[in-house]
Amino acid sequence: MRLDLPVYAERFGANIFNNVQKIYEFDGGYELDDEFSSPFHVIQQISHERLHEIEKDMAIIIPVKNERLRLLESVLCGIPHDCLPIIISNSQHDPIDRFRMEQSMVDTFCRHAKKRYILAHQRSPELAQIFRDGGYSQLLDANGLVHAGKAEGMLAGITLAHLLGKKYVGFIDSDNYFPGAVFEYARLFAAGLSQAKSPYSMVRILWHSKPKVVGEGLFFAKWGRVSRITNQFLNQFFSHFTGYETDALRTGNAGEHALSMPLALSLDYSAGFSVETYHFVSLLEKFGGVMPSPYPEVMKAGVEIFQMESRNPHFHDADKGEDHINEMIEYSLGVLYHSPICPEQLKKEILSKLRRSKIISKDQEPVLPRRYPALASIDFKRAGKSVNWEVFGNYVPK
Ligand code: GDP
Ligand code: CO
Repeated sequence: MRLDLPVYAERFGANIFNNVQKIYEFDGGYELDDEFSSPFHVIQQISHERLHEIEKDMAIIIPVKNERLRLLESVLCGIPHDCLPIIISNSQHDPIDRFRMEQSMVDTFCRHAKKRYILAHQRSPELAQIFRDGGYSQLLDANGLVHAGKAEGMLAGITLAHLLGKKYVGFIDSDNYFPGAVFEYARLFAAGLSQAKSPYSMVRILWHSKPKVVGEGLFFAKWGRVSRITNQFLNQFFSHFTGYETDALRTGNAGEHALSMPLALSLDYSAGFSVETYHFVSLLEKFGGVMPSPYPEVMKAGVEIFQMESRNPHFHDADKGEDHINEMIEYSLGVLYHSPICPEQLKKEILSKLRRSKIISKDQEPVLPRRYPALASIDFKRAGKSVNWEVFGNYVPK
């Protein structure tokens, strides 16, 4: 791959937020061009060996809830062979058992491709047992099952990936119409993570565009309503502490993102659709130097965040309605609002934005989504002891 070097960055405590990197070639050639090692070059070439090395150690977690089977199938097709797909499904069992249909499609597909996979129902007793054994009951509801919600599915996916010895986790939504885009995200995850000097790193994808039908033609929108608002407030939050206005943070709602396992296990998480924005809040709270850090080793090594601009348009199932968008805005701003380090002035502006947009009423505060403590607190030895991997697909660890 050929892409920008991450030359500009904003620092916040131990966090380094790199500016958006642009991609020049997905396939940068079989041989390495020495000229790229010149100190004057602002472009780099990452070898295909290096990309494959990372892919071998990476699980791609795919959250699913009642998506069309064809979409899920084409997502699978875009995942590089060496990555292990971990599908966490919260699809319905009744009146039609959509989960059963997913199981059968995924199994057939992976048999043809000779591909390893993990597929778990979010609300299955077998999945819940892992968290009970590992002493992480926060993820379980009154029925003893993993809570519903996208973030909750992601946490289950990270836990399975760690139990299976993966060193990286990437997340790709299952409602993507273009397998080529999925393939690009996975490659960008590998390229981004390969640049990290610290064991604690994260890659966030900035979509090139989201095509929409407007009148008779296509319009390639750059910013969705939710991301425009989230990024604006996120940058304000950031600028308050640095004293410099910035627009460096562009990926506040990046559903497509990847983490090194040590970072994935150290962050706190927030429920449902607030999970992506909350990454930033957790990074700033834990490693920003404003509050004492529970992880001195992370403070020493630093955390590297890479933002990468994909080239494929992002075309997903966008027909989820106004309520969904408003919920995403409320949740994203809600996690900023409720952070103990959120400046008072910003809190006022968030309230006024949400009230003016009629997302919350005049006397209401934004929701405080449920929080989950770092997964590092799981006793993984005990959590993995009684897992029967055959229940979860065709990947049986040695
Ligand atoms: P948007 O693209 O951000 O507007 O949100 P979507 O509604 O498309 O959801 C993102 C992804 O999360 C999709 O792949 C959904 O199928 C999936 N998803 C939504 N809710 C849940 C859930 O409760 N559990 C799991 N495992 N996946 C979910
Ligand atoms: Co979607």
